[in-house]
Amino acid sequence: MEQDDTKLQFDPHGNLRHLLSLRGLDAKLLTELLDDAERYLTTPGALPARNQSLAGRTIGNLFFEPSTRTRASFDLAGRRLGADVLNLDVNTSSRKKGESILDTIYTLEAMHVDVMVVRDAGDGVPAYIARNVKDHVSVLNAGESDVSHPTQGLLDLLTIRQHNPDFKNLVVAIVGDIQHSRVARSASEALQTMGVGELRLVSPPALAPDPERFPGARIVDNIVDGLRDADVVMALRIQRERIGNLDGVPGIDEYFAKYGIHHENIKHAKADVIIMHPGPMNRGIEIEGTLADGPRSVITKQVTNGVAVRMAVLNRIGKMMGAR
Ligand code: CP
Repeated sequence: MEQDDTKLQFDPHGNLRHLLSLRGLDAKLLTELLDDAERYLTTPGALPARNQSLAGRTIGNLFFEPSTRTRASFDLAGRRLGADVLNLDVNTSSRKKGESILDTIYTLEAMHVDVMVVRDAGDGVPAYIARNVKDHVSVLNAGESDVSHPTQGLLDLLTIRQHNPDFKNLVVAIVGDIQHSRVARSASEALQTMGVGELRLVSPPALAPDPERFPGARIVDNIVDGLRDADVVMALRIQRERIGNLDGVPGIDEYFAKYGIHHENIKHAKADVIIMHPGPMNRGIEIEGTLADGPRSVITKQVTNGVAVRMAVLNRIGKMMGAR
């Protein structure tokens, strides 16, 4: 969603109808979604939260790019709220035979799918679908090119808030391939809305972002400067599927030494730093495996939070549908 389509996300009464981007969602709405997500969290080993708030609704998961976490958590979130969930297998869907995205959408609409959860490699695809669906259908962006991954941004925000809710005094360092990362974009949008103290984007120059896409962030190419006194460090994967030319990108050993998060450089962060990664993770490239599994890591907590956040978003959309 590059152009200002933020209004498209709300119905005429100001209720969230589509979730396409975290741009345009104010701090009040972000906070309400995180508070709702907290209510879906249960203690480890306890049964997961369940209710029937989406009973009778149908959710279609349309993933035109690979996914483990996002797809599985939307599936679980929908089922735990009592919805029917349809997981379209992209490799065997009729898009492989040349069917257009809109014809796929119209086909699912005819089967009474109420919520379309869409992941696609193309810029603007979720907003394009949102502009073309019938009035009773909602669209949730589950990862759009290098542009937006709003539910990932929400789960990252929740994980950071659980560590320290005082956003204004936090230093957050996002490290890795910022240029091609929708995760960094959505996290940055959410953190800036919450008034984060300092957001640093740390990457080799060849993977540095366009500053206009990250207003208010500090772009850094030295890892020690980037990690110094950080409260939160988020490592990112190199998005090879979105990089046309790897010229200037360090090889694996050099990358790990200079831009990987490891026991030597993490010493520059605060002693109680949390270490995040959206997954999928490449151990020994962007993060040292023992750090990913260590006491400062909140990576599996992010995954748990992902189900709760998606339940919160789906529940809110369900309430909007019920109020019509
Ligand atoms: N973080 C994330 O989007 O992971 P998946 O690609 O596995 O969904």
